[in-house]
Amino acid sequence: MEWIDGTKRDDFNWQRTPLTQDALAGKKVVVVGGTNGIGRAFAHTLAAQGAEVIVVGRTFRDEGAERISFIQADLSDMEQARRTAQELPIETLDWMIFTTGIMPGKKREENSEGIEIDLAVSYLSRFVIVRETAERLGKNRAQTEVKPRVFVVGFPGTNQKGDINDLNSKGNYSLMTAHSNTVIGNEALVLDGAARYPHVNFYGLNPGLKKSNIRAGMLGEGSFFQGAAEFVIGMVTESVEDYSERIAPLFVSTGIENQSGALFNRHGDPIHPSRELADAANLQKVIEVSEKLTSRTLGAAG
Ligand SMILES: NC(=O)c1ccc[n+]([C@@H]2O[C@H](COP(=O)([O-])OP(=O)(O)OC[C@H]3O[C@@H](n4cnc5c(N)ncnc54)[C@H](OP(=O)(O)O)[C@@H]3O)[C@@H](O)[C@H]2O)c1
Repeated sequence: MEWIDGTKRDDFNWQRTPLTQDALAGKKVVVVGGTNGIGRAFAHTLAAQGAEVIVVGRTFRDEGAERISFIQADLSDMEQARRTAQELPIETLDWMIFTTGIMPGKKREENSEGIEIDLAVSYLSRFVIVRETAERLGKNRAQTEVKPRVFVVGFPGTNQKGDINDLNSKGNYSLMTAHSNTVIGNEALVLDGAARYPHVNFYGLNPGLKKSNIRAGMLGEGSFFQGAAEFVIGMVTESVEDYSERIAPLFVSTGIENQSGALFNRHGDPIHPSRELADAANLQKVIEVSEKLTSRTLGAAG
């Protein structure tokens, strides 16, 4: 199958050699959602190799860690997402990595703007930050041999059964449909970003099932079910730390430089986009709905 730029995604490879000590010295990275789980593992891996890392989240868990600094934000609030974007040293960043995420509860919850909470945290806050920053991303970087990069962690390429006509889950609410809507949104963010911002490279990462805190909202924070589910997942899947170590060379790989819009599975192999989003009209629909839902925030930006 051909990708949006006509290349065959199965044809390309990237350098998987583990990063050497200080390989990332001089790199500046923000990990939005870098305070826990997969994002925190990324922050540790990248800082350990010399990168300066800013993590965004609600709770900082790495006080005193070398080369990791913190911006606090509740990203269920679109205005806080916009303010966070304005606080970031966007022009000097090499990469922006999005790993924020929750799963919705059994009943629909919304923020003060009427946006379903999972959609707000896991997708639309990212959409707002990208729209607010992409034009300026990496314009004044020290190292300019490759384009600045945006990595969007989600669940791309999995043909989720969401509802692009009701992205905000206003109709019949279903937890799984609501979550699938965030998955579709994030995949659309990569595909649209690649076309919209040619001076930036966008990539989507599907980490596969990982032991983390992501299911707290769905199973009950600290509940027996959450503990049991994460215990089992931890027994049968790779840890977030191992995933991070293995995928880190992708962040710097020159082998993906001409592959903006590419999606990668948990092994780091390129995967095809979901069928629904391979249709340009559906992709456009998702973006239009996202613009509408965030118009109050982005409109206020002037
Ligand atoms: N784990 C899996 O099985 C799995 C599978 C497929 C895809 N993914 C994707 O991987 C990404 C990371 O998930 P994870 O498993 O690492 O989850 P996680 O351990 O729960 O981490 C989620 C991150 O999001 C932040 N966050 C949550 N609510 C926030 C809010 N209101 N405001 C600001 N930050 C907020 C958390 O920060 P605080 O703790 O500081 O609030 C944390 O840094 C998500 O996009 C998820 O969809 C995960």
